[in-house]
Amino acid sequence: MSNIISGKELSAELRAKMTADIPGLEAKYGRVPHLVVILVGENPASQSYVRSKGKAAVAIGMKSTTILKPEDISEEELLSLIDELNNDDTVDGILVQLPLPKHISEDKVIDKISYEKDVDGFHPRNVASLWLGEDCIVPCTPKGCIEMIKSTGVSIKGKNAVVVGRSNIVGKPVAKLLLDENATVTIAHSRTADLASVCRGADILVAAVGRPEMIKGDMIKPGAIVIDVGINRVTNPDGTSKLVGDVDFASAEPVAGWISPVPGGVGPMTITMLMRNTIECFERRLSK
Ligand code: GUN
Repeated sequence: MSNIISGKELSAELRAKMTADIPGLEAKYGRVPHLVVILVGENPASQSYVRSKGKAAVAIGMKSTTILKPEDISEEELLSLIDELNNDDTVDGILVQLPLPKHISEDKVIDKISYEKDVDGFHPRNVASLWLGEDCIVPCTPKGCIEMIKSTGVSIKGKNAVVVGRSNIVGKPVAKLLLDENATVTIAHSRTADLASVCRGADILVAAVGRPEMIKGDMIKPGAIVIDVGINRVTNPDGTSKLVGDVDFASAEPVAGWISPVPGGVGPMTITMLMRNTIECFERRLSK
């Protein structure tokens, strides 16, 4: 039986602290932090994520603006909207929900967002700063994973950490953050030979592959900390659907020492870290 790392409960605690901090920030700077989220098109999953981000911002006392644009917006128009927001002094954080339609370059869009308002931490300047060990905005999901691991009270220092997945959004940055915490880090991926035995060496296992229930209980070291970043919608035999992670919870839970569930694990923590990043961007810019 493992202990459950509830991202939902940890988020509630962290958001309560932020809620308490907002009036002080407003008194100091004359306004509350302002997050702008841009959604292009009508992808239902993206719509749901964007709604959650806006709701969370308002719930902790920040200002939130959601800008909806049609699927066929031109790249040029989207870039010029970002330019406007970059130059708007009342905007502290800009997030463009990904994925974008194929005719728009995600790289160009990310590049266009001012690195000082890049609450996702995706801008090349923030990525470079992360890898150089400089002060920067850290991507939300990786930052949330580290908070969840730390919430167990187990020291990360000297532990074997295995990250399954090498995306720019999760795998690579979470590996760097674990390295910063003095873990010995392995990044595994779809071409890794004998993935099961690599995973079995992990005291800390972060699954971020996007393959439903791929990590089974027999791939987990007894007592390990398991963080499941996957959010996969799968169809039940009766035609209904449900969300599952990258970890097969039923077989992993009896083996792991600590495990995060899906839903209610990393998902809420990503949004909580987005709130924290918005406050960080606000304070950095306004205290200059
Ligand atoms: N789409 C899925 N995850 C993310 C994220 O963390 N940020 C943005 N901007 N889009 C996403």
